[in-house]
Amino acid sequence: MKFIIQDNKEQIAYTAADLVEDAVRQHPTGILGLATGSSPVGTYKELIRRHRKEGLDFSRITTINLDEYVGLDEFHEQSYRHFMNHNLFDHLNINKKNTYVPRGDALNPEEEARHYEELIRRLEPARIQVLGIGVNGHIGFNEPAEDFTVPTHVVTLTRDTIESNARFFDSPMDVPKQAITMGVGGILRAQRILLIATGEGKQQAVKALEDGRILPSNPSTILKVHPDVIVLCDRAAAALLDERTVRQAE
Ligand code: F6R
Repeated sequence: MKFIIQDNKEQIAYTAADLVEDAVRQHPTGILGLATGSSPVGTYKELIRRHRKEGLDFSRITTINLDEYVGLDEFHEQSYRHFMNHNLFDHLNINKKNTYVPRGDALNPEEEARHYEELIRRLEPARIQVLGIGVNGHIGFNEPAEDFTVPTHVVTLTRDTIESNARFFDSPMDVPKQAITMGVGGILRAQRILLIATGEGKQQAVKALEDGRILPSNPSTILKVHPDVIVLCDRAAAALLDERTVRQAE
C-alpha cells in the first residue's frame, strides 16, 4: 500500500485525475470503477476539465459504480445514479449505456445484487477503482461486520453511516436504511485501487490502513491484500500516520 499525502483538495484532485487519465489513455476501451460521495468530486471536475480542454476521450470507456441506495430511482437527487450523471457522465463523451450503477428501484434488491455481480464477473477487471472511505472504515457500503462479504449484496446501513450521510438529506429519517453494494471481491478484482481520504474525520480510518491487522470490523483493511493500492490523503486525514510513512508519502 502506497500513501501519498498532499496539502489541499486541488492537489488531490489533480493527482487522482492523473491516475485515472493514465488508465483511460492506456486502455481507451477499459473499465473504470467509480465511487460517489464528496471524496471524488474534485477528481471528477478535473476529469471533465481535461475532457473539455485536452480532449481526454471517454467514448469507449465503461464504468462500474460501487453502490446505490435501495429505494431511490435515478431521478431522486440523492441517488448515486443521479450523482454520477450530474457530477461526471453528463459532462463527458461517455455512452451512458456503458455506465453501470446498481438499480436502487429494482423490485427485488437481492436479485439486482445477483445480476450486478454477474455483470462484474462478465466485464474485464477495472483498470482502476476509485474509492472513498467511511469514518467507520467502510468501502463501498461494506460496513463493519463479523465477516467480509465477497459478492455484491444488500446491506443494512450502520447508524454511523446514516448519520454521516444525513447531511445530504432533509433529515436523518430520510436516509435509506439499505443499499446494494459491490462486495470486497468485486473491489479487490480491480487492477489498481485509488482510495481518497480527506479531513480530520478520516484519521482513524486511514491509520487503520497503516496498521497490520485485517479485520471485518474495519472493512477497508482488506485492501492490504491487494498488490496495488494508493491511498491519497490530505494532512488532516494523515495526522495519525507514523512519521516514517509520512516521510515516504510526501
Ligand atoms: C460511495 C461509497 C462510500 C463513500 C464513503 C465516503 O460510493 O461507496 O463508501 O466513499 O462513505 O464518503 P465521502 O467521500 O462523502 O466522505
